[in-house]
Amino acid sequence: MAYNLLKGKKGLIFGALNDKSIAWKVAERAHEEGAEIVLSNTAVAIRMGTVSELAEKCNSVVIPADATNVAELEHLISQTMMRFGGQLDFILHSIGMSPNVRKGRTYDDLDYDYLQKTLDISALSFHKVLQTSWKMDAIKRGGSVVALSYIAAQRTLYGYNDMADAKALLESIARSFGYIYGRERGVRINTISQSPTETTAGGGVMGFDALLDFSNRMSPLGNADAMDCADSCIMMFSDLSRKITMQNIFNDGGFSSMGMSNKAMAIYNRNLEECKDCK
Ligand SMILES: NC(=O)c1ccc[n+]([C@@H]2O[C@H](COP(=O)([O-])OP(=O)(O)OC[C@H]3O[C@@H](n4cnc5c(N)ncnc54)[C@H](O)[C@@H]3O)[C@@H](O)[C@H]2O)c1
Repeated sequence: MAYNLLKGKKGLIFGALNDKSIAWKVAERAHEEGAEIVLSNTAVAIRMGTVSELAEKCNSVVIPADATNVAELEHLISQTMMRFGGQLDFILHSIGMSPNVRKGRTYDDLDYDYLQKTLDISALSFHKVLQTSWKMDAIKRGGSVVALSYIAAQRTLYGYNDMADAKALLESIARSFGYIYGRERGVRINTISQSPTETTAGGGVMGFDALLDFSNRMSPLGNADAMDCADSCIMMFSDLSRKITMQNIFNDGGFSSMGMSNKAMAIYNRNLEECKDCK
């Protein structure tokens, strides 16, 4: 159901690769809520994925940019402002990738060049988007920026590897830049911490299916899916969240407040004997 929550607003959405991507659902919902959007991803992702279909559906364009490259971000933001005829109301940072996870390097055997790439792509790119937008005065007073995070920023979850460090940094950047943006420009910066979700990036995490099942059992409302995340992003881009900034908002069905649930206990009891030597 659409409520015209973003009527007249203009936004830039990073990270739609295919129709499973969280950013894809956010773009569809933003369009449905009356926003005008520009989509961006790396040139390779645009070629390999299906984001052009999304652009057509949403009356939008796709402008390539590697979010780790400041010159490409400057070009993207100036093109976006030209298309919109001025400043933006919202930005979604939905970008993550760990070469260590992809290559199966565990946390006690990290490749440090890969680690730098993980941090650059998954966290520093958020700073680069914010700083480039800051210098270009690209975001309107009352505007809103959201980046997507995961609870591994606060708690250790088996298999999440160096992405946990990237998410901790991402959330810290939201607070540090949120102070400056709020004070000087009246712009909100937040992160949304999402349940495990079946996407290309999500599926790369070790033991993802078990993690998905565990989270679902632990969450009183069940896992939040990509559509639930899109709805939360729309709420954060809308004027209804105008005083919320520098926060990490858990969109996780209650997982983050749980210790043990009946549904998880049931599985644990069944496998107790089998798993008695598990580390
Ligand atoms: N899927 C999950 O379980 C889950 C849970 C919590 C948070 N998140 C976060 O949600 C965000 C979106 O991931 P997703 O699950 O939709 O997966 P996805 O694979 O669909 O999206 C990740 C996107 O990052 C883009 N990207 C990678 N390197 C880039 C670069 N250098 N410049 C610009 N874009 C780049 C990819 O092309 C892709 O579109 C990520 O930050 C992810 O960590 C995902």
